[in-house]
Amino acid sequence: MADTKSATLTLDGKSVDLPILKPTIGPEVVDIRKLYGQADVFTYDPGFTSTASCDSTITFIDGDKGELWYRGYPIEQLAKNSHYLEVCYLLLYGELPDEGQLEDFENRVTHHTMVHEQMNNFFRGFRRDAHPMATMVGVVGAMSAFYHDSTDIADPWQREVAAIRLIAKLPTIAAMAYKYSIGQPFVYPQNDLDYASNFLNMCFSVPATKYTPDPALARAMDRIFTLHADHEQNASTSTVRLAGSSGANPFACIAAGIACLWGPAHGGANQAALEMLQQIGSVDRIPEYIKRAKDKDDPFRLMGFGHRVYKNFDPRAKVMKESADEVLDLLGIENNETLKVAKELEKIALEDDYFVSKKLYPNVDFYSGIILSAMGFPTSMFTPIFALSRTVGWIAQWKEMIADPQNKIGRPRQLYVGSGKRDYITVSDR
Ligand code: SDX
Repeated sequence: MADTKSATLTLDGKSVDLPILKPTIGPEVVDIRKLYGQADVFTYDPGFTSTASCDSTITFIDGDKGELWYRGYPIEQLAKNSHYLEVCYLLLYGELPDEGQLEDFENRVTHHTMVHEQMNNFFRGFRRDAHPMATMVGVVGAMSAFYHDSTDIADPWQREVAAIRLIAKLPTIAAMAYKYSIGQPFVYPQNDLDYASNFLNMCFSVPATKYTPDPALARAMDRIFTLHADHEQNASTSTVRLAGSSGANPFACIAAGIACLWGPAHGGANQAALEMLQQIGSVDRIPEYIKRAKDKDDPFRLMGFGHRVYKNFDPRAKVMKESADEVLDLLGIENNETLKVAKELEKIALEDDYFVSKKLYPNVDFYSGIILSAMGFPTSMFTPIFALSRTVGWIAQWKEMIADPQNKIGRPRQLYVGSGKRDYITVSDR
């Protein structure tokens, strides 16, 4: 990756040569690892708008072109032709599996979908009205207290088992969080169901009536999992990497990622976006909200709009928009006012100079809530579904980091702007 090319930093008459590292594709990077040692200065980049925190082979995003590749495969092709567990294999191992590899992987995941029976007790400690993301942070973190045979991160086999367990059990835990919140009994995973159908069954079946997941809805659910599977070094993935860099328990690291994803600026935006669309309520009220979104003195933002990286359409939003039409049509939902508001809001915003000049486009969270709501999920389950989908991305990135011999604990510095040194004053003299 290193190249003879370099950048020179000249400071107080002193020059430091900084190597330029070349990517497969995308921006080159200035390697500043020796900067502090050679020039006694830090770089300053709150929010990491210009900082590459690592090198990775997993996901590539081109924000200007609106492109997203998992291991080089465009998301549009994977969403159309692949399915989530095959995408999990691809993200974890770097290549698409052959038939035998895929069957073996699906079997391994399927036979890890149950959680330890004692974990059911954790839910009893939560209030019924706890947000499912709160219960998921707690219960996934508690996995670190149960699966001691897959927490030695120095053992590649244990790292592998932890990855399979997390991919397999997150849907079960998310469904349990949902069932607990509505006072219904937990539903065990069924090994004869595919991954998405199993999740729908664990969420929507009840002992009182037979429930058969609709294959078309399961396909749409599976596509949503695929669209959310990984996304380079976003906030929650960076959280998992930073937590993992200290050698922390893999389950605890994923719990940290879930906590970060919950924020409305990140994965929590899918819940906030649908609630915003429902608050707008009708197409004629859109101009009022567009005005508020542009008002610097108004904290209101168009949730599901804008992105740190995409300055063009989020390719996932395009697929999600098509899927919204399909699912509503499948469910016989005509004239869905929320979808109408979403489409009109997108149209008006993309013709408005404020959004065009700031390159604000719908992101992955803008349409997903419409589909999930139509499927019968409450808004509080939108981010848990994002979290279970993203678990494979988090764990693939975590495995890549742990296996990297250059891996070291992440420890940023700061620009200190606090008080100078001063002596203690006793309270009687203050
Ligand atoms: C996800 O990083 C990832 O990859 C995340 C994700 C993933 O898969 O992991 O893609 C998932 O988190 C998608 C993003 C979901 N969040 C939202 O939809 C919340 C609404 N969007 C924003 O809060 C915002 O756009 C962010 C947080 C997504 C991005 O923020 P940035 O990159 O820090 O950009 P910014 O806040 O500096 O905004 C740039 C300008 C600002 O105006 P100025 O100060 O330059 O005048 O655009 C404005 C902002 O005020 N702006 C918006 C806006 N988003 C940005 N104005 C109105 N509505 C919005 N949604």
